[in-house]
Amino acid sequence: MKNIIVGNWKCNPNTKKEAAKIMQAVARKSRLYKNSEIVICPPSVFLPLYKKSLVKFGIQNFYYKDGAYTGEISIGMAKDQGCKYALIGHSERRRSFGETDSEINLKVKAALSAKISPILCIGETIEEKAKNKTLEVVKREILQGLSGIKDFNQIIIAYEPVWAIGAAQACSSEMAKEICVYIRQVIENVYGPGSGNKISVLYGGAVTPENAAPFLKAAGMNGLLIGRASLDPQQFLSIIKNCEN
Ligand code: PGA
Repeated sequence: MKNIIVGNWKCNPNTKKEAAKIMQAVARKSRLYKNSEIVICPPSVFLPLYKKSLVKFGIQNFYYKDGAYTGEISIGMAKDQGCKYALIGHSERRRSFGETDSEINLKVKAALSAKISPILCIGETIEEKAKNKTLEVVKREILQGLSGIKDFNQIIIAYEPVWAIGAAQACSSEMAKEICVYIRQVIENVYGPGSGNKISVLYGGAVTPENAAPFLKAAGMNGLLIGRASLDPQQFLSIIKNCEN
């Protein structure tokens, strides 16, 4: 299975000129990394610019219905712009935009029915970590996010401890390994024997070229979700390269 390396540009950059510069730098080198599925989730206004690239695309957010919902983007629109992936339940959406587990579940279902791979983001806050609630939160966000979903094959889970997102320090690879094993167990309990090892689990939160590889090699993750470092093509490409070796 290829490493799944996802760049989440969040609400950056401000111009299509800057966006094209980052994208071209990544796209130019993407052929070198045969063992990586490189995915970029730019702001949706930039998606039409990149239809011909080798790099795959994801949508950062969408609404699970279409129709009279001013300001929203549907999953069908994302698909039509060439998206193969969708970030769902990122902690910034849960906390700044009040997304609930049940809304997240509807989005996962909408993505699956459009044949887009949902990247379900889960993870505990610093307060939850301090109260030893990490496993409880991880389990709840998986069970509620995937409630009623029978086929796990297209689903990707991204473990992103909220305290590591945008922070100086990432989660240790030891802790990431423990959570990764636990996520696979939770999946196995729902979807049966073998499912835990088949599902792709990513790590996200303060990933850099220096700390990236152990999340895959020591912690057993299948890929990474990268915020800040994905806006710098040199750093993003170094992360991809370091994980290939
Ligand atoms: P970061 O963000 O890499 O800047 O910590 C990760 C994310 O929010 O997905």
